[in-house]
Amino acid sequence: MTEHTEALRDQVRQRYAAAATAIHTATTTSCCGANVSGGIADIEISEGFGSQLYGPTERHRLPADAITASLGCGNPVAIADLHEGDRVLDLGSGGGIDVLLSAQRIGPAGKAYGLDMTDEMLALARANATQAGATNVEFVKGTIEAIPLPDDSINVIISNCVINLSTDKPAVFAEAFRVLAPNGRLGIADVLAENHLTPQQCAEHGSYLGCIAGALTIAEYHDGLTTAGFIDITITPTHQVADGMHSAIVRATKPASTIHLIQEARRQLVSESGSSGSDKITSRHLKPSPDATQAKR
Ligand SMILES: C[S@@+](CC[C@H](N)C(=O)[O-])C[C@H]1O[C@@H](n2cnc3c(N)ncnc32)[C@H](O)[C@@H]1O
Repeated sequence: MTEHTEALRDQVRQRYAAAATAIHTATTTSCCGANVSGGIADIEISEGFGSQLYGPTERHRLPADAITASLGCGNPVAIADLHEGDRVLDLGSGGGIDVLLSAQRIGPAGKAYGLDMTDEMLALARANATQAGATNVEFVKGTIEAIPLPDDSINVIISNCVINLSTDKPAVFAEAFRVLAPNGRLGIADVLAENHLTPQQCAEHGSYLGCIAGALTIAEYHDGLTTAGFIDITITPTHQVADGMHSAIVRATKPASTIHLIQEARRQLVSESGSSGSDKITSRHLKPSPDATQAKR
């Protein structure tokens, strides 16, 4: 990691440490719209973020601090297809709202993990879990770019307004793919930019929203997930959060096996060279064809 990316990550960590501390003085909400000056959060509530995105039934089932600590831009638990007994991982779990809601859906046979790099957020989430009486949850310290969980160990990954903060989004997508079991699902809410925005505009608009590392465009997000190996990718913008920037629901699946990739590579090889398909398949061939990707947009 370069010094610059390390500095950006520290900035994100400080911002959320201050936000977690501020929960006790009830001055917080939203991933975005927060300013950090001198390490102290001066956080304003932005429209389109926070606990207003959850229904009254969900809000009533959780401790007040878990609700106040909601800093997301969507409701990933509502979009993730959770089943009894699932193992769920929330990337950037903050005060734990989505972990606690997931835990209620998956029941005692399941397990919901929250991953966060900020000690103050982990402490808040653990306190909220205790208050909620949740026994099937665990909050783990670590980064979403190097997830401290084994390969193929999770059924569903959720995340709420966090991946836009990452300085290494390809690593996040690759790690999400690695820890998901075959057929595992991704159901996340995130801030994305319209495709016409330049990288500089994405950074500027993202920075205004507090998404310090800069949001990806919808096309870049789709390509990043495809490169990591995901299939059945859908990205649905839900509400505009700034000029050219939208909160969106992202769904994707890890294939049951890599066989479909090999079949696709063989088909590509045959159409390119007219060979029988028994020639050498390279990593270039193992990426889904642009045609197949385009069709899913
Ligand atoms: C916008 S808040 C969202 C919290 C939670 N998902 C919610 O909806 O309330 C972002 C959270 O992600 C964590 N975070 C940001 N970047 C991270 C990274 N690279 N690795 C791990 N956690 C990260 C922050 O500490 C913070 O708790």
